[in-house]
Amino acid sequence: MKVEVSSTGFGATVSSIDLRAGVTSEQAQAIRASLDTHGVLAFPSQHLDDDELGRFAGIWGELQVHPVAASIGATNPIAVVFNDEDHPPAEGGDSLFHTDYSFHVQIPDVAVLRSVTAPSTGGATTWSDAAAALRKLQATDPQTAARIRTLDALHDPGPRFRHEMEIRMGPELAAQVAEQFVAGSLHPMVAAHPRTSEELLFVNAGFTRRVDGVSKAESDALLAQLFALFDGDHQFSHLWAAGDVVVWDEHRTVHRGPSDFGTQRRELHRCTAGTHPPRRAD
Ligand SMILES: [Fe+2]
Repeated sequence: MKVEVSSTGFGATVSSIDLRAGVTSEQAQAIRASLDTHGVLAFPSQHLDDDELGRFAGIWGELQVHPVAASIGATNPIAVVFNDEDHPPAEGGDSLFHTDYSFHVQIPDVAVLRSVTAPSTGGATTWSDAAAALRKLQATDPQTAARIRTLDALHDPGPRFRHEMEIRMGPELAAQVAEQFVAGSLHPMVAAHPRTSEELLFVNAGFTRRVDGVSKAESDALLAQLFALFDGDHQFSHLWAAGDVVVWDEHRTVHRGPSDFGTQRRELHRCTAGTHPPRRAD
């Protein structure tokens, strides 16, 4: 197994391993350790099917059905992310950085995507490092970094997510889902990673709406300051080719999907594994 690490240390590309053949317990341990170090791992040209995708994700824990899918009775942990001429990406798409379903009490530990069909241009996914974002805040504004350690923020699905659900499942089911998840969840703004205990900035532009216990004006200003910390060098992008597999740490990273591929067909299958509530850093 060859691990080619990006220049920042965040994100790596792994080759000389055949995930279709299954991984040994030693390989699984090495892959988990590599993910804990680098946050995102890309495995080009693996050509897994859904069963193989699930088996690979299973090295991190039990497969999780997306809570929104589970709320309407779905039991399949494999979700399909699909766009084409008749299903264009929603305005703005997933283009805000987010942690998948951070509006829920528990978030997934890892997500694994496999590309089935990739657009010939565009369509890259980008991840940003929440540990580096917190370090940047500590270096540039230690007072704010200290202050947010004791604060919580409200995460909720919001109108953009509702719009996406309407496109995917129609207005009736989307309304049912919205009712169930609209209240959102309060999470600590600085979280400790469930495995490594590394400290992370746990807010995201996709789902974090309000800092709890401060005025709206102060909350808006603080969140704008924090969201901007995810821009910069500590990012990793993957331009998909059919057959590629990428796994990322949902606690350590935020990600955004593109809407720059027009009406081209783009199909990815996703699976998440393991789950923990974000916990406050000591
Ligand atoms: Fe996502």
